[in-house]
Amino acid sequence: MKNYIIKNITQLVTCSGFSAKHGQAMSDLGLIENGMVIITDGIVTYADISTDQFPVDNPEDYEIIDATGKAVLPGFIDSHTHFVFGGYREEEFSWRMHGDSYMSIMQRGGGIYNTVQATRAASFEELKAIAQSRLDKMLAMGVTTVEGKSGYGLDRETELKQLRVMKALQAEHPVDIVSTYLGAHAVPEGYTEEAYIDFMLTEVLPIIRKENLAECCDIFCEKGIFSTEASKFFLLEAKKMGFQLKIHADEIVNTCGAELAAEVNALSADHLLQASAKGIEALARSNTVATLLPCTAFSLKEDYAQGRKMIDAGCAVALATDYNPGSCFSSSIPLTIALACIYMKLSPEEAVTALTINAAAALGKADSIGSIDVGKKGNVIILQYPSYKFLPYHVGMNCVEKVCLSY
Ligand code: NIG
Ligand code: FE
Repeated sequence: MKNYIIKNITQLVTCSGFSAKHGQAMSDLGLIENGMVIITDGIVTYADISTDQFPVDNPEDYEIIDATGKAVLPGFIDSHTHFVFGGYREEEFSWRMHGDSYMSIMQRGGGIYNTVQATRAASFEELKAIAQSRLDKMLAMGVTTVEGKSGYGLDRETELKQLRVMKALQAEHPVDIVSTYLGAHAVPEGYTEEAYIDFMLTEVLPIIRKENLAECCDIFCEKGIFSTEASKFFLLEAKKMGFQLKIHADEIVNTCGAELAAEVNALSADHLLQASAKGIEALARSNTVATLLPCTAFSLKEDYAQGRKMIDAGCAVALATDYNPGSCFSSSIPLTIALACIYMKLSPEEAVTALTINAAAALGKADSIGSIDVGKKGNVIILQYPSYKFLPYHVGMNCVEKVCLSY
């Protein structure tokens, strides 16, 4: 593990904090002018004003970086992706651009079912190799922790294969991976909703628990996929087994997914394009993070989630890419930031909070990542520019010059 002293930082953006930031608190980035960060054995041991004398025992063991003219931030956390999948769906994208809807393609046996076939057919090694190259691209854009979901098997073996790919990559790749079981992504052929939920609870989740293959459980709570009642039952059972909860909520139709997420104390409610005022209020009063995925709304040509309204109501908002082969084939952090600021009306400060400390909270990890605080993991990024304000301003472009990891 490498040790770093990053000195003369023109703008140190600490995002300091150990829990999700709600509402106005999202604007506080804990800025330090002329700052210095020291990372020792992968842990932040100093985050304060730059000094000439380094407060360490053996400075010769450190890589010393002069960050004059640069901003330093916590590594970005992409808290919602589906990056382990086989095949692509470029035909479906062009159909959508010509007026087909996401759901109608799925009802014809395409959509998620299309990727399920390709993922079942792919070998462990094939999936691992392609997933690894996807992680490399994320890292180049400053992502130091990524959440990845299963959900393209809908059977036992393929779902476990996806989760095992992530476990293997967690051991080998510098990007940290948090795994989520999303067997409840669609009901597979030959099952009723009830029978499939029973199958997941009795035949799949116990193995995942035993082999420690996932920390979280997610469900696609959506009209025509899993009902709100079935989602509640499934999530509460998964919680009893020790999983943290996440929900694909109110994406295409409002099904009171936001309210459900707050009620079951999920880590996050994700998408929320159709969340109602009541749903937003329920999230604002809860510990559940509202995770918004603007690249998906963009790719589906849907209206954006009401990010501004959510923050003004007191929600803790996170941003993520939703990288997947269907609704959003992009892991672009720059595009996510641009859309969040330009169309969802987040300020640059709020967008940074949403990709760091609030994204950490959406993974239940705000105590160990998401900010540059002494004691946290030493995952930091150095921008090519002197201010975080370049992130939305340099539209769609990667501002990250260097990533320092606790790997
Ligand atoms: O988050 N909405 C459900 N799941 C993904 C899309 C999955 C797919 O189309 O392959 C999403 O948008
Ligand atoms: Fe998703």
